[in-house]
Amino acid sequence: MKRKKKSSSSTPSSTKSQASKPPRIAIAIMAAGKGTRLKSQIPKVLHEVGGKPLLEHVIRAAVHLVPAKDVYAIIGHEADRVRSAVQHTGVNFVLQSEQKGTGHALMIAQSTLAGYDHVIVLSGDAPLITPATIAGLRDFHLSEQAAMTLLSAELENPYGYGRVLRKGSRSAEVQAIVEEKAASAVQRKIREINSGFYVFAVRDLYGHISELSTANAHGEYYLTDMAAVLRKARQRVVAWKTGTPSEVLGGNTRAELADIDEQMRMAKCRQLMADGVTIFYPATCVIDAEVEIAPDTIIEPYVQLFGKTKIGTGCRIRSYCVIRNSEIGDSVNVRPGCVMEEARVSSGAIIGPYSHLRPGSEIGEGAHVGNFVETKKIKLGKGSKANHLTYLGDAEIGVGVNIGAGTITCNYDGVNKHKTIIDDGVFIGSDSTLVAPIRVGKGAYVGAASCITDDVPEDSLAIGRSRQVVKEGWAREKRKK
Ligand code: UD1
Ligand code: CA
Repeated sequence: MKRKKKSSSSTPSSTKSQASKPPRIAIAIMAAGKGTRLKSQIPKVLHEVGGKPLLEHVIRAAVHLVPAKDVYAIIGHEADRVRSAVQHTGVNFVLQSEQKGTGHALMIAQSTLAGYDHVIVLSGDAPLITPATIAGLRDFHLSEQAAMTLLSAELENPYGYGRVLRKGSRSAEVQAIVEEKAASAVQRKIREINSGFYVFAVRDLYGHISELSTANAHGEYYLTDMAAVLRKARQRVVAWKTGTPSEVLGGNTRAELADIDEQMRMAKCRQLMADGVTIFYPATCVIDAEVEIAPDTIIEPYVQLFGKTKIGTGCRIRSYCVIRNSEIGDSVNVRPGCVMEEARVSSGAIIGPYSHLRPGSEIGEGAHVGNFVETKKIKLGKGSKANHLTYLGDAEIGVGVNIGAGTITCNYDGVNKHKTIIDDGVFIGSDSTLVAPIRVGKGAYVGAASCITDDVPEDSLAIGRSRQVVKEGWAREKRKK
């Protein structure tokens, strides 16, 4: 039996004439402010938490709900800098060249938003907001057919936030929002705060936005005053209280940024642990959101993993390692104090302690890179070893090679970089310098303390050092004098 389905859209539209059409929804992100309280040269929304600028987190949440072409970041203070930092997200920008308040930010966007039915307004400095909460706010707004819907939260310490004045204790309707500075002693006791996230019916917002005034402590147009303005115009203003108040925290001060960063880092650690990664003392580890770690890898205290770092299964990353944009295979042991950037380490390798793998380092399966070894743009073949006090740069090193302590590839002549090629099975004696461009052939030996300036044929022995001189009795004679 066939049953007729109703229109697939489950979200009611506030515009009755368009009941069958889904409403056109834009997201505006307010990001034009300076962030005076941070006392910084860097604009507020570019301060980083969880390894990314505040604004980028908010944009990520926004583009979960609407396509980037419907997202508008309102920028102003250091606009060019902000734009270039987040341009890759594909969102649009609206310039608020003079920042006269959150209400003014929306005034500037009027012509841009005119083609939409509703606008979701987010704060560029509140990065913990989740798509689920924004969607909840949107759905509540649409079902209430409100002119303005604000996201509120019950905070233990509401200091500094705007307070929500409801029509009655059980009413969804809001009379006004009162800012901290303007609040009476009684109002300051209200713990329900305005999160700075809203949904407006575009027609109602712009039908009344000119009624905002600057008669307040900062001499600014407050978007929050739209609640009272719309109420006066007998429009419906409602609040939807979030069950996860931590999501609305704003990064207005360095201390608030630290709190938000800590929350994001802990959330990342908890997710990794839930996925089977052991993290000892997670509060000391700093792991970026995009880092991937396979189960049964152990992360010791005080490890920092940044960017797009990827780590396989069964590894152990010991304390004080700082690893950025690197790929590590399975069962790799990274001993304490290693620094890696854009490096690739194959399975079974042993790195450190105190190795420095710079960009382009490719360490082969089961290879060893040891104490105070620096590598850059090299391939170290399977099972090869460079265990002590060595610099290897611009080099291609085969399999089963032994690089003695203190070996240096002299890759730079002051103008250009040159390549060193060390073929399979070579043995480089300690304290050798290999002046590139140079090639040491398969199976060859280089005597300790050699300075190698010419190619070494395969299976040969090269010694490039002055002969030892022994003067018997010399010391005894000296003491007699
Ligand atoms: C605002 C709310 C407050 C709420 C709090 C929640 C107002 C007047 N107050 O206060 O009720 O509890 O958020 O976090 O809105 N911005 C612009 N252009 C401007 C001014 C600000 O784009 O001209 C941007 C800022 O960059 C920021 C956001 O708007 O991302 C909020 O501004 P901010 O100054 O941080 O407002 P709060 O004092 O936190
Ligand atoms: Ca704020």
